[in-house]
Order: sequence, then structure tokens, then C-alpha cells
Amino acid sequence: MTGLPSSSPPRPPRGCFVTGTDTGVGKTVVTAALAVCLRRRGLSVGVMKPVETGCGAGLPGPSDADRLRAGAACDAPMDLLSPYRFAAPLAPLAAARQAGVVVSVDRIVQAYRRLAARYPAILVEGAGGLLVPLTDRDDVRDLIERLALPVVLVGRCALGGVNHALLTIEALRARGIPLLALVLNRQAPYRAASDEAVQLASTVELLKERNGVPVIGPLPYLDSLAVMEREGVSELSRDPGIEALADLLNRARP
Ligand SMILES: Nc1ncnc2c1ncn2[C@@H]1O[C@H](COP(=O)(O)OP(=O)(O)O)[C@@H](O)[C@H]1O
Ligand SMILES: [Mg+2]
Repeated sequence: MTGLPSSSPPRPPRGCFVTGTDTGVGKTVVTAALAVCLRRRGLSVGVMKPVETGCGAGLPGPSDADRLRAGAACDAPMDLLSPYRFAAPLAPLAAARQAGVVVSVDRIVQAYRRLAARYPAILVEGAGGLLVPLTDRDDVRDLIERLALPVVLVGRCALGGVNHALLTIEALRARGIPLLALVLNRQAPYRAASDEAVQLASTVELLKERNGVPVIGPLPYLDSLAVMEREGVSELSRDPGIEALADLLNRARP
């Protein structure tokens, strides 16, 4: 017995990195809905959009960082929540070069650690897909490795979704990055008198069969998301798919 007080290190937060098979697949909507769901379960949620392009004063619509902040009701300052923000609607490295800025992955990791010390749950949204370059050396996948977060992959359930999802899963496995779930998202309403239901079901089945990780969805297409995003995100947060994602996140906590 030394008589010294025992101090255990603080428990790391629940967290995940939300990436997509592409841009525009629903990463922000899914991340915001997951944040609302976790808050309903009593957790305070930190969110991050480390690099965002096509955002800034005078540009139409709220930025991803603003949409995530609204979902999570996260009051963190913007320089932690979204350290690199560029007006040019270009890929991150192109936008950074145009602005004469060199993105530092170290700075992003430091911002993440400060958020992680403050919130018991952290959700980080990537930019575009997994191999999008952020610096001359590092891409989104390198950033995920540095943050040591499990991944939630959002993909399309329309035709083409199987190949896109499997390519991204292969790229994650090549680095041994844990994949928490594949979330399939709908971005168009059902077309009446089409065989879309068969296509959707077969996409889900093939992906379940092939990838060995939980496949969530297809999440429903919600008109409310286009009309009033806050209400749409709230509605989506009650979908069984988002609830299942929140359960997985809880279980994966280190
Ligand atoms: N399930 C859905 N139902 C209706 N609209 C959706 C759905 N998912 C995404 N959208 C819409 O698709 C667009 C792209 O979604 P977003 O979350 O911004 O994609 P990403 O973050 O991957 O670029 C947004 O306008 C969003 O409102
Ligand atoms: Mg987004």
C-alpha cells in the first residue's frame, strides 16, 4: 500500500466518424439525426466538421457545421467544431490551396481532443468520401486513423450503391479501421409503378451478405428534410435505424 490516491484516466467518449460513399449521400442528415437521438437519451453531444468547403457569409443555406450544431445543440466555438472552412465550392485540398492555407491534421486532432474532454459523445463528419485529400500527404482515411474512431459509412441504396459501399469498405479494411455500421439512405421518394422495391431489397440483401457488418436502413425518404431540416432531422432521429445506430455506438464505447 503506497497510500497514494488512485486516479484512473478519464473514460474516452463515445464517438464515431461518419463518412460516405460520396458527397451528397446523407452524411450530415444522419449525423444530425444521431445527435438528436443521443441527446434524447440524455447525452451531451459534441460535433465536428473538420474541413468544410463551399461555406461562408453570403453563400446560400446553412453550412454542414451549422446543421450539425443545430442537431447536437452543441455550443462549442467554431474553431474547434470546424477548424478549416473555405468559401470555394471545391474539394478540400483544392479549396485550401486556392486560399493559401495548409491544413494541419495535428490541429484537427487537437481540436477533437478538446471537444472529447468536454462531451461524453462526439460525432465527426468527414468531407466527401474516404480518399478525399486534405493535405499533400493525408486524406480523410488518414485523419480517421489519427482520431482512432470507428466509422459509420453512409451510402446510397439506389442502383450502384453496392459497388460504392464495397469499395469504401475495402479501403477501410486495408487499414484495419473498424466499421460500426453501413447506413443505407434514400434520397428520392418511391416511384409508383416501378420495381424499385425489389432493387432496394436486393441491394440491402447483397450488402448484408457481403460485408459482415450491420447494415442499417434503408432510412426513409422524408419530405420534411427538404422543407424544414430541423423538423426532418427530428423525425429521422426517431427512425428505428437511427435508434439502432445509437445502440451500436453505446456498445462500441471503449
Ligand atoms: N432520407 C432523406 N430524405 C430526404 N432528403 C434527404 C434524405 N437524406 C438526405 N437528404 C437530402 O439530400 C441532400 C444531401 O444530404 P446531406 O446530408 O447534406 O449529404 P452529405 O452530408 O453526404 O453531403 C440534402 O439536401 C438532404 O436534405
Ligand atoms: Mg455533409
